[in-house]
Amino acid sequence: MSRTSKKPRTRPKMADLADKYALYRLAVQDPEHEVQEFLRFYKDQFGRRPTRLREDFCAAAAVCCEWVKLGREYAAVGVDLDPEPLGYCRRTYLPKLSATEQLRVRLLQQDVRTCDVRADIIAAQNYSFFIFKTRAGVLEYFRQVHRCLADEGIFILDMMGGGAMQDEQISESRQVGRPTSEDKLQPPFRYVWEEASFDPITHDVLFHIHFRFPDGSALERAFSYDWRLWTMPEIRELLEEAGFSQSHVYWETEDKKGEPSGKYRRATRGRPDQAWLSYVIGVK
Ligand SMILES: C[S@@+](CC[C@H](N)C(=O)[O-])C[C@H]1O[C@@H](n2cnc3c(N)ncnc32)[C@H](O)[C@@H]1O
Repeated sequence: MSRTSKKPRTRPKMADLADKYALYRLAVQDPEHEVQEFLRFYKDQFGRRPTRLREDFCAAAAVCCEWVKLGREYAAVGVDLDPEPLGYCRRTYLPKLSATEQLRVRLLQQDVRTCDVRADIIAAQNYSFFIFKTRAGVLEYFRQVHRCLADEGIFILDMMGGGAMQDEQISESRQVGRPTSEDKLQPPFRYVWEEASFDPITHDVLFHIHFRFPDGSALERAFSYDWRLWTMPEIRELLEEAGFSQSHVYWETEDKKGEPSGKYRRATRGRPDQAWLSYVIGVK
């Protein structure tokens, strides 16, 4: 090679420039909607507005940052073991809040099972408590939540299930378009939710999230979750055992075409859908 020849300049791939937390938020989170749902669930139970939120397994604490925008009396605490997403929140989400809003968000790097922060609502979203694979583990966590809730307090969990979840190698994939507002630096991408394995004896389930880009690059296994697929009756029984006086299920309604509507109503009977998502509320 001649001494004068130049190395071809390699353009960075889209995946090299991507921000996995921003992609995660675009693909699977809707903090504004979550906050409105939390207010509604609480109002259904107690007929008033709560002010103190604890977001367990908060990762980058997107819901906390939305909660404090409700007004001066609203405060939020996010709890997560992992310093990386908490640092992301401090660098990326908190600076977008006003100075007084920032003061009303507290982030704790801690195990949710030892956290004693009191709140009107304690929420564990995106199935995060599935990390606890034994009854004893779930019960320990639920008891701690029960102790920390205000006398008029609710615990909000989300759950998923259905026949398709017990099928190995299923995956859901959808295109996420070019975002508009704060995440405009992220390219369009394909979000892939892969169920890599399911064991019908233990209900151990392994999920991966991948992000794939139009230039062929990808963030494979950007997030992985080694969980137990709990069932609704198991979880409601564990809530009762932990001391919750009632539990309610908010089941997704159907639109006029019989498709999932994205709206959730209290229900005592569900439909045997192949894949369903729902909220479960434990009342102190
Ligand atoms: C599925 S992500 C949750 C993301 C977020 N809650 C959401 O709604 O998208 C699970 C999070 O739980 C955290 N985590 C796992 N075990 C934990 C524990 N025992 N205590 C606190 N955080 C934990 C992980 O670090 C990870 O950030």
